Amino acid sequence: MRSHYCGDVSADDIGREVALCGWVARRRDHGGVIFIDLRDYRGIVQVVFDPQEKTAFALADQMRSEYVLRTVGIVRERSQETINPDMPTGTIEVYVHELKLLNRALPPPFQLDEYIHASEETRLSYRYLDLRRTEMQNHIRRRAQLACATRTFLDNKGFVEVDTPLLTKATPEGARDYLTPSRLHPRSFYALPQSPQLFKQLLMMSGVDRYYQIARCFRDEDLRNDRQPEFTQIDIEASFVSVDDILAIGEGMVSAQFRALFDEELPPVTKMDYNETIRRFGCDKPDLRNPLELHDIADVVRDIPFKVFSVPAADDRCRVVALKVPQGAQLSRKQIDDYTHFVGNLGAQGLAWIKITDLSTSPPALQSPILKFIPEDVVQQLMQRVEAHSGDILFFGAGRASVVNAYMSALIHQLGKDLKLFNPNQWAPLWVVNFPLFQIDHKGERTSMHHPFTAPACDLATLRDDPNAALSHSYDMVLNGNELGGGSIRIHDSEMQYLVFSLLGIDKNEAQEKFGFFCRAMEYGCPPHGGIAYGFDRMAMLYGHANSIREVIAFPKTQNASCLITGAPAPVTAKQLHEIHFPMNTKDVRTQ
Ligand code: AMO
Ligand code: AMP
Repeated sequence: MRSHYCGDVSADDIGREVALCGWVARRRDHGGVIFIDLRDYRGIVQVVFDPQEKTAFALADQMRSEYVLRTVGIVRERSQETINPDMPTGTIEVYVHELKLLNRALPPPFQLDEYIHASEETRLSYRYLDLRRTEMQNHIRRRAQLACATRTFLDNKGFVEVDTPLLTKATPEGARDYLTPSRLHPRSFYALPQSPQLFKQLLMMSGVDRYYQIARCFRDEDLRNDRQPEFTQIDIEASFVSVDDILAIGEGMVSAQFRALFDEELPPVTKMDYNETIRRFGCDKPDLRNPLELHDIADVVRDIPFKVFSVPAADDRCRVVALKVPQGAQLSRKQIDDYTHFVGNLGAQGLAWIKITDLSTSPPALQSPILKFIPEDVVQQLMQRVEAHSGDILFFGAGRASVVNAYMSALIHQLGKDLKLFNPNQWAPLWVVNFPLFQIDHKGERTSMHHPFTAPACDLATLRDDPNAALSHSYDMVLNGNELGGGSIRIHDSEMQYLVFSLLGIDKNEAQEKFGFFCRAMEYGCPPHGGIAYGFDRMAMLYGHANSIREVIAFPKTQNASCLITGAPAPVTAKQLHEIHFPMNTKDVRTQ
């Protein structure tokens, strides 16, 4: 039907006849001459209708936004004053002598021009229109390119892509399962996989040696801008490998993606222990572009009369930290109040601060509501601890370590953004390594830091003696403050696996029932193995500089997990419910 894509017509085609197909992006009537911007996924070109071409002109007059056309015409140079430097095809236009209307369109609910900001709800309800926009086409095509670069890299490294089941049994990754009732097995359910974790380990036990999959995962959890109920992982597993082997594969893969997408080298990847990330940044996914860091000051403020600091300073479960913001003394009272409010929403009791007006005087010129509570020599030590300069401001956090970490890391992030403390176009990749094996959750219960298949960095006896102190052979890759992927070396010994289950409060019977098939497989010659999974949508989001993963998924779910195109989830018929044995008698349902 066509000889060229709209966006590909160029000055090289001047004088040639071209046949184009596309959508009406805009129609303008200029003193008897009609101009239409014709769009396809490659771009936009201006096609011109002159009254001399009677039939085409008369039809062009009836064209409206998003009508679908085929035009045949001659490419010509635009006159000097009509050149549009903002348009890649802006030096030429097509003088049309034949126009065919291929389809009409209802008036679109929003104008598709690049800079129009329709609400996300409207965009998702009419996703097929939204996706016509160049920006969205770029996201979709970049995502496909990313998948292609990933597959090429992993294929070349000897990894084999294997599909694993979607109708399966629960895999513990910490979220709720999506369940699918079985018609053939009354009162039984499949779970959609939260990840292919168990199957990829079974593949290692099957001698596959190096597996990958661009795998769909399902997690029923509260959604955010970097989370979808249905998302995609680049899932990787390999046998007879060390932590460093997996890090090298992951780094190689991300480097290959950078070369394919940006023709750019991945900057060197920093490696940092989990404990260090928490100490310096209050979180395990710091944005290393941001220069702000926390300084522990409990030892300095332990004996001062200011109880807000001295009480937590003497408590093991607490932290007292200072955050130096270079040039921050210029923050207004209102800005400081806003930050106090911001951290207050995250659990802070307050946000003490000291403005350092001039350090060269004696005593130094400082401004702060808490100065009267802090002896001069302590102030001096604080200045030394954070290496303060005139013009800086110090913020302080004191209290329960987990709470201080949460709000101070959020403050670091917010200040970094507000004060433009880094170049948003830079890339700062990081490996966080040596996570603890377990954490204690808000209910005081021991849970896995990653998942129960992660290998401890100690032997059975040591783990049994002091489980909470155990570290693990695990790692996360962080890019610009986002967790891109995570994984570990796995337990490959069933005794250790049962011990970890029991330390998680899963007794032998329950472990047998839920994971018996898996532990049994482990007893038939399981190789040492390990792997990692990357969030594919998060990668596409970061690489595309999008601010939500919904932007890089063709048909995403909304924040409350519905699909605005199809209306899913939706009620079903009584007959369908009957076939899957609903409603169920509660006596048929397990309590655990
Ligand atoms: P984990 O649970 O850390 O590990 O997931 C790996 C990566 O998947 C991405 N991710 C998500 N992306 C979008 N929406 C979600 N709801 C979502 N949840 C997770 C993140 C995350 O880093 N089986 C293990 C991996 C392993 O041990 O090999 C796992 O799934 O980018
Ligand atoms: P208060 O004695 O509660 O009036 O607090 C004195 C100063 O310390 C105020 O500037 C508060 O914002 C600040 N502050 C109070 N609690 C904390 C805390 N837990 N961490 C940091 N600063 C605090």
